Amino acid sequence: MVENIWCTFHGQAVNAAKATILNALTENQVAVYQTDLSSAQGSGIVFFSEVNPDFYQKLYEVSNRGLERVLCITLSQADLAKFDVWKLLRHGASDLFAWDHSSNPAKEVATKFAHWQEVDRLLKSPLVKRNLAGQSPVWVRTLRQVIEASCFTDLSILVTGESGTGKELIAQLIHTLDPRPNKRNLVISDCTTIVAELSGSEFFGHERGAFTGAVNSRDGAFALANNGTLFLDEVGELPLNLQVELLRVVQEHTYKRVGSNVWQKTDFRLICATNRDLLQEQARGRFRHDFYYRIAGWSCHLPPLRERTEDIVPLVHHFIEKIRPGSALEIDGAVRDYLVSRQYLGNVRELKQLVARILHRHIGTGPITIGDIAEEDRPSGEIEVVDWRDDHFESAIRRAVSLGNGLKEIGHAAEAVAERIVLEEEQGNIRRAASKLGITERALQMRRAAKRQGGGSIEVE
Ligand SMILES: Nc1ncnc2c1ncn2[C@@H]1O[C@H](COP(=O)(O)OP(=O)(O)OP(=O)(O)O)[C@@H](O)[C@H]1O
Ligand SMILES: [Mg+2]
Repeated sequence: MVENIWCTFHGQAVNAAKATILNALTENQVAVYQTDLSSAQGSGIVFFSEVNPDFYQKLYEVSNRGLERVLCITLSQADLAKFDVWKLLRHGASDLFAWDHSSNPAKEVATKFAHWQEVDRLLKSPLVKRNLAGQSPVWVRTLRQVIEASCFTDLSILVTGESGTGKELIAQLIHTLDPRPNKRNLVISDCTTIVAELSGSEFFGHERGAFTGAVNSRDGAFALANNGTLFLDEVGELPLNLQVELLRVVQEHTYKRVGSNVWQKTDFRLICATNRDLLQEQARGRFRHDFYYRIAGWSCHLPPLRERTEDIVPLVHHFIEKIRPGSALEIDGAVRDYLVSRQYLGNVRELKQLVARILHRHIGTGPITIGDIAEEDRPSGEIEVVDWRDDHFESAIRRAVSLGNGLKEIGHAAEAVAERIVLEEEQGNIRRAASKLGITERALQMRRAAKRQGGGSIEVE
């Protein structure tokens, strides 16, 4: 049974088919309630036979930057072919199909929502929440991908991202979520520390007497990972000749120990991580195409902290809880501003270390104050806290201008984003949000009412 899903009908043709569609959904245990797109909240279905710029804007808003699942359905495949499916996906549609693309589309709707609900149940489970903090849309979308790949496929997974973004933590999560029965250990092999001469033994193990110093036989990483997971960390550092050596075992799961002629079998799931851009490395001839396609059955990129600054405060609370369990320490506004606006070249790792230093200085059970920030962490006169009008801001404006938006549209869009962020931060409290935005409560209420009636339009390209 799938419950509490909104649905809306956009366009004459779908409206005419409404009764049939609603019946089919009920018969397939999908409980929906009808609403219009501007007031919809949560997951839902958009049946549509027409689109206009306003439709795109509302779709973008209701999907809440991809956080909510929105299934878009046309009546026929011929209808669907008339629309730009990629543009609909970019504007927040989770999936798209035509009602006539199979004999029981309502059952497929039920299956899709049940699957999405299962992914989100795992996302909110203590297993994930206890270990990983962050609620920003980009982080939630990334975690959903990780859950999809680990629980519903047995593919090899490549995790990419800058240093300190959580690649190892994600590798551990993938192993934990992997539903294989009788799953064994996660074996970590750090490719930066593998010495070329000993690599064969490290990876494949050796027989006694295989080389000078091989006093006893020994298992290598691929044997140790049998029935478990092998995590090749910093795989981008693996020299070309070692990539060749690993091709067979990664593909066929068979290998020979050094000093032996017998093929051994091993069954493992492979996870690799790197902070290098492996496509670029391939173009430079430093990474093999064939090896890349074997390790990247599924790839997932972890965003740097600067692209998810909304996660800074939740991460800080997460680390406070880890370091001082049960203390529930609050943070003064000035400290919060400092933490959010500071640069983190070392990403989450740097933030974690900073929180540890702050807690080291903090005394008592009251909120963390600005003096708890160590001298060396304070912004000096010359090093300004990062200007908010950074490269991302510039490139967003550049894109808006190139798409034909004028000052008015750009201004409106920036105001709408500021309004949404502040309302989210203040949990919908109009008085506090208005004060933060520097306008009156009434002005904010009027702006929201105007938006509900559909003003302005945005393009997400
Ligand atoms: N979302 C998160 N929630 C909680 N802790 C996190 C999160 N992401 C990263 N961390 C913590 O940040 C630190 C760095 O994470 P991790 O070692 O997984 O990063 P990495 O991407 O493997 O870095 P490197 O490329 O330098 O090896 C770890 O202590 C980890 O526990
Ligand atoms: Mg790492």
